[in-house]
Amino acid sequence: MAIEILATGRYLPERRVTNDELAKTVDTNDEWIRSHTGIGSRHIAAPEQATSDLAYAAALNALESFAPGKAAETALTLDLIVVATGTPDYYGFPSVACLVQDRLGAVNAGAFDVSAACTGFVYALDAAAGMLGIGNRKRALVIGADLLTKITNWEDRGTCVLFGDAAGAALVERTDAPVTGEAKRGLIQSVLRAQGSGAQELKCDRGGTRNPYKDGETVDKATHIYMNGRAVYTFAVKAFTEVMQELLDREGITMDQVKKIIPHQANERIVQAAAKRFGLPEDKFFMNIEKYANTSAATIPVALDEYARTGELQRGDLIMTVGFGGGLTYGGNLIVW
Ligand code: ACO
Repeated sequence: MAIEILATGRYLPERRVTNDELAKTVDTNDEWIRSHTGIGSRHIAAPEQATSDLAYAAALNALESFAPGKAAETALTLDLIVVATGTPDYYGFPSVACLVQDRLGAVNAGAFDVSAACTGFVYALDAAAGMLGIGNRKRALVIGADLLTKITNWEDRGTCVLFGDAAGAALVERTDAPVTGEAKRGLIQSVLRAQGSGAQELKCDRGGTRNPYKDGETVDKATHIYMNGRAVYTFAVKAFTEVMQELLDREGITMDQVKKIIPHQANERIVQAAAKRFGLPEDKFFMNIEKYANTSAATIPVALDEYARTGELQRGDLIMTVGFGGGLTYGGNLIVW
């Protein structure tokens, strides 16, 4: 029994904002953003869009790519919808997954969200795979979706230049393919880690039960993302290398057997540092941060979809995902395509 990815999809909001455009309203410039992060532009959701709109569009794209013109029929075959997000439409409930379930008409599917920030898709894929491995469930839709620009402080140049909005999706199925030997396929390893002691380094202080909104009060706590950039950077480089090594060790393979690494796209320099530590060429990593910036839980599924659609990814190829983010969380997956 293997858990295989049948199809992928993505959605990027229409509005694209370049660094130069951003520099008209924020004290920054294209040279600084590119040299410190590798980011050239980002897509920003329309005011009326919420995360479930992005997630639904990516889901539809994945279902259409699986069976063109039959998204509604395929939706009926879903047993599970799992959405990784740190920016839900509503805090707590209803989940984004339930909103997507309704719009897809996936009336046979259970639906829930996973909260693991930028590592969310890595966690959600493993959670879905585990759940498909028991009972009579067969198909899941795993989505990574975030709309960070609505919780971004546009006066903080240290964070606002980093983020964008997007969603990516993967249709996952339990199949009879082998999970060992030469012909093995599907999700073969996951490493899921957390370092909760770093929780305060990357957070959104206001709105949860620790600091709830109260009617009529003066806001005294940030309603936006707070990030200790330096601390997160140091954590990220270590987390990347740790996860990559553990995935290889668990499977008893070397990096030359991995065709491509699909990393969380937070900062090109983090990936470059991890590549250097591993002695890997930078083109071992699939990068699209230049176009989309950091879209949190969406970066890995969006990159996976883009890479899959290049035609370079062949059946039987081994790929690795690796991510880190708020929580702090980190992790990765090994997948035979
Ligand atoms: N434009 C121009 N100058 C800037 C900007 C900007 N946008 N932002 C900061 N600067 C300036 C600072 O004011 C500072 O100037 P000073 O030396 O005169 O004081 C200088 O640039 C250096 O600032 P640093 O903050 O030290 O810059 P650094 O090289 O550390 O890069 C960055 C900052 C890009 C945020 C980096 O620390 C980083 O990538 N950290 C990790 C972030 C991350 O990966 N987050 C992931 C998770 S996000 C999530 O989960 C939601």
